[in-house]
Amino acid sequence: MLRALELRKDFGGLTVLHPTTVEFRPGEVHALMGENGAGKSTLMKVLAGLYRPDGGCVEWRGSQVVFTSPHDALVAGIAMIHQELMPIPGLSVAENITLGTEPSGRFGRIDRNAQLLRASELLRELEADIDPTLPMRSLTVAQTQVVEIAKALGRQADVILMDEPTAALSDHEVNALFRAIARLKACGVAIVYTTHKMNEVFRLADRISVLRDGRLVGTAAASEMNPAKLITMMVGRELADIFPLRQPPTDKVLLEVSGLTREPSYRDVSFQVHRGEVVALAGLMGAGRTEVASAIYGMQPALSGQIRLKGKLLSIRDPQDALASGIGMVTEDRKGQGLIPALGVGQNITLSALRDFSLGPLIDQSAEASASKAQMVEFAVKASSPTQPISQLSGGNQQKALLARCLLGGPDLIILDEPTRGIDIGAKAEIYALIQKLARSGKAVLLISSELPEVLSLAHRIVVLRRGSVAATLDAATTDQETVLRHAMPL
Ligand SMILES: Nc1ncnc2c1ncn2[C@@H]1O[C@H](COP(=O)(O)OP(=O)(O)OP(=O)(O)O)[C@@H](O)[C@H]1O
Ligand SMILES: [Mg+2]
Repeated sequence: MLRALELRKDFGGLTVLHPTTVEFRPGEVHALMGENGAGKSTLMKVLAGLYRPDGGCVEWRGSQVVFTSPHDALVAGIAMIHQELMPIPGLSVAENITLGTEPSGRFGRIDRNAQLLRASELLRELEADIDPTLPMRSLTVAQTQVVEIAKALGRQADVILMDEPTAALSDHEVNALFRAIARLKACGVAIVYTTHKMNEVFRLADRISVLRDGRLVGTAAASEMNPAKLITMMVGRELADIFPLRQPPTDKVLLEVSGLTREPSYRDVSFQVHRGEVVALAGLMGAGRTEVASAIYGMQPALSGQIRLKGKLLSIRDPQDALASGIGMVTEDRKGQGLIPALGVGQNITLSALRDFSLGPLIDQSAEASASKAQMVEFAVKASSPTQPISQLSGGNQQKALLARCLLGGPDLIILDEPTRGIDIGAKAEIYALIQKLARSGKAVLLISSELPEVLSLAHRIVVLRRGSVAATLDAATTDQETVLRHAMPL
């Protein structure tokens, strides 16, 4: 049994994990739940020897242990799958999986055949079709995540701490992981699991602990919990007003897209967005939602068709054109779209608007600082200061910072691609409120989301794409999930 006893962790004088006592039992999946920044990863990292506790202790198999490194914890039988994937890109898949546990052959050399064999076996356990000889850098994010999981499985650990292991996985890969977890449980392995996906918790967990603002709210058997109860524990308030009320849009057309085509991704896509309106682009994966949005934002322009904003025909060749015309976008991939991890939150926010703060060749730093501070307050970005590296913030806070950056340029139309993916329910509610606020202020939002409840509750109208064409335009207030899906399904 692994126990945290009054375990405490501080960062820069701030306590991010208040004294916490919780136990993780063999053969049990223990879900750690909480909003972004609640302290889940911190607790796991202390248990895994990555952080030294500032108070309390870790008890393992009945005695107090002090891990001075992740290696210590591994040797003791505690492995962790990190939320931030940490592969070594220059090594092969097999080398990554067996890192630190390489099978040795003669003369102390690494036994390459045994290494490949072990890697293949572990990948097979996860039902993954990945060639172990490939260089790590050639893998997709999902494959990288699978490899990190395989690596942890290969440690033969008695405790595996899994920090959002499914964030990048497809349904098939998630199911394979769940089957592997069931086998580990049967062997008496203790699993500690965090996720922001509600359905996963109730499929997997035997017990659930909830952290809020660095404090343990409680631990309960999963059978005694339900989603509403869990969310209330996580956010500390009732669920009722998560989705703010929609106000009716105006009748002023802001964006008009007509005949947008880029074969084979999409063709003849036409729709309008009014001021004050939230329009969702719905559809299955691959239906062309992101592609159409990218065309409007100029990331991958359409080959034919027209885009008008405020009645004016635009010729958008790249995002600079789009921004200059009053179109902003927050893309689905937070890292890929120019978050600079080592730079402070504040600077990340003002990054694309630096021109506005220039004094000749110089930057007016005090103007920049006050603008970024104002945005952080406005968007409730939680950080210790504007100079805290953005990489240290939780996913939800990074997303709010990106929204703050996007809106600093004063766009009329804001395109949001999966704005709530991977963030917790509290941060989601804040982003929902923000979207309605934008609409109320006379701007317009084009929303892409794979979560249908979100689409139905936030949007005024839903443009359903099917295989690159508009299959239907629905009034959100009078439609339902089944109808949207019926239009989205390929015939
Ligand atoms: N290395 C660090 N230095 C300074 N502060 C940190 C560090 N790591 C985490 N924090 C802070 O500690 C708090 C808890 O963060 P933690 O990563 O444990 O949250 P979490 O519950 O895992 O959130 P998420 O769901 O977003 O992964 C946050 O306020 C975070 O900014
Ligand atoms: Mg975390």
